[in-house]
Amino acid sequence: MIPISKTILKKNEINSVLKPLKSGWLVQGQNVAEFENSWSSFTNSNYSIATTSCTSGLHLSLMALDLKPDSEVIVPAFTWISTANVVEQMGAKPIFCDINPDTFNIDVSKIERLITKKTQGIIPVHLFGLAADMKEINYIAKKYSLWILEDAACGFGSLYKNKHVGTIGDIGVFSLHPRKSITTGEGGMITTNHKKFDKSLRILRDHGANTSDFKRHHGNKPYELCDHTLPGLNQRMTDIQGILGLSQMERAQKIVNERRKIANEYNIAFKNINELKTPSEDKGFVHGYQSYPCLLKVDKLNVNEIKKMNAKRNKLMIKLLKKGISTRPATHAVHMLAYYKTKYSFKPNDFLNSFYANDCSISLPLYNGMKKSEYNYVIDEVLKIIK
Ligand SMILES: Cc1ncc(COP(=O)(O)O)c(C=O)c1O
Repeated sequence: MIPISKTILKKNEINSVLKPLKSGWLVQGQNVAEFENSWSSFTNSNYSIATTSCTSGLHLSLMALDLKPDSEVIVPAFTWISTANVVEQMGAKPIFCDINPDTFNIDVSKIERLITKKTQGIIPVHLFGLAADMKEINYIAKKYSLWILEDAACGFGSLYKNKHVGTIGDIGVFSLHPRKSITTGEGGMITTNHKKFDKSLRILRDHGANTSDFKRHHGNKPYELCDHTLPGLNQRMTDIQGILGLSQMERAQKIVNERRKIANEYNIAFKNINELKTPSEDKGFVHGYQSYPCLLKVDKLNVNEIKKMNAKRNKLMIKLLKKGISTRPATHAVHMLAYYKTKYSFKPNDFLNSFYANDCSISLPLYNGMKKSEYNYVIDEVLKIIK
């Protein structure tokens, strides 16, 4: 069976977790701090703040950005549900924007018309490792005095005009879930170039405390409890996860290069398959290939045609599964998920490209440590079935 994704860690990475386990200090400490530093070096961001997931990182970021209840935030309609859920959790309203099916990212030509007096910010998503069009998003944000929170969940190793994603807007957040390039089991990493956000995010992830546990326990007044200046949460990463992440950072660029190599093998093999749109990167973009999402082409973009192609996509997934190959829809159209569909009475064609991507996309297996024989087998079977 070839899984959609698999975590294959090196021996030293597996063994690294023994160090904190033996040390007696398991919660956020020096290993998390070192992991944060190495993340900052790799992404060239001034500050990195580790957390328990990308979702919690996005949530904390909206707190740091002072998102007000009843205000609005623009988010793409095709993304993992967290991007919208965190806005709802703050009592604000996600305003969905359709995507460009060529990139799976927010269609920047449709953002401006969604801006109202209530809009506070934009959450562009660098979906599957391809950067959103940040030049245009920056221009709009500046024009209307909006903040930008980059959902860089899938963006490790992804560049936009030589800048690592997550360092272009006000704050960026990465996921460390096992389907991502670097993993700590569950986990997230927030990046920012602004000292004020670094300060508030560290406090917010730690019960609103003005000193970390590690500092207090290792300082000269460990008996003194600290003050709490904000109504924070506990979203701290453990030191066990910290060292696991840190140990993978030693081969960070190799991890990205390997993913790009496998994706390139797929790109070459599927180049002449007209029915399948494979991922691509324009000049100025470096794709991090968190996954390998393809789109089955339709003759006409309407709900009926999409539904017909959806049936074919599902058959393709079943046939591949029978051959031992796992695939997945690339991600979901959030406006079609029960909570949002019911609350806002959405119809498929309110965000037709997102509906299309939801129904007609297929991600192929891609992971570090994937053998040549494995991706060649995927290529052969996809070609046989589609032809
Ligand atoms: C675009 C996007 N945002 C947010 C998340 C949530 O990440 P996590 O599982 O680390 O909370 C994901 C997860 O895959 C994602 O793809």
